[in-house]
Amino acid sequence: MRRLDQLLANLGYCSRREARAWVEAGRVTVAGSVADDPGQKAAPAAVQVDGEPLDHPDGLLLLLHKPAGLVCSHDEREGPNIYSLLPPRWRLRNPQITSIGRLDKETTGLLLLTDQTALVHRLTSPKHKVPKIYRATVDRDLTPDLIPLFAAGTLQLEGEKEPCRPAELKITAPREAELILTEGKYHQVRRMFAATGRTVLALHRIRFGELDLDDQPAGQWRELPLDTFDSAF
Ligand code: URA
Repeated sequence: MRRLDQLLANLGYCSRREARAWVEAGRVTVAGSVADDPGQKAAPAAVQVDGEPLDHPDGLLLLLHKPAGLVCSHDEREGPNIYSLLPPRWRLRNPQITSIGRLDKETTGLLLLTDQTALVHRLTSPKHKVPKIYRATVDRDLTPDLIPLFAAGTLQLEGEKEPCRPAELKITAPREAELILTEGKYHQVRRMFAATGRTVLALHRIRFGELDLDDQPAGQWRELPLDTFDSAF
């Protein structure tokens, strides 16, 4: 049960002050009856605004095909961000929608977004070794010796305390490979290839755990059920 003014404000409809005015104007109903007290507590599923049920009152889990050129930070000073792809009301929600881990500005591919804080923590925790598959294009030919090097679990990146966990490399073309990681150090894929003298020219995340992008176009998101990862823990 939540206060009506708080509920509408947290779901991004309006400010708490505006919510009070909306209630006073008779725009809000609870179980079909017009509410007259903005402090009234109600089950979100029973509340309607202007005759419409509330917009995802229980939370959101989204699978985005991240395009290049957008950052995952909410900080506008870092440039255009992925949140600009979402409906304006969702951008005003509290708790706010955030990405589960981050992709670099120029990295494309599968990115999960949610307002479920606990899910973010569970899926980014080093304890849960969710496999993530990347496709990287590099500037110099790949050689088979990289396969055991990445698989060994001994590759030390500058500034990191722990070496990279064992990672599976599949060379798919002279300068293209798929890399499966179970962790997410800062710029990890780029830094792993840099440690072998190669620059990553293009990076795309194909899979996150059991999820893939299917044919979803860049810039588009789709909703996933909130319990998608329940069996994963
Ligand atoms: N590794 C990187 O270097 N960049 C990403 O965006 C993701 C993984």
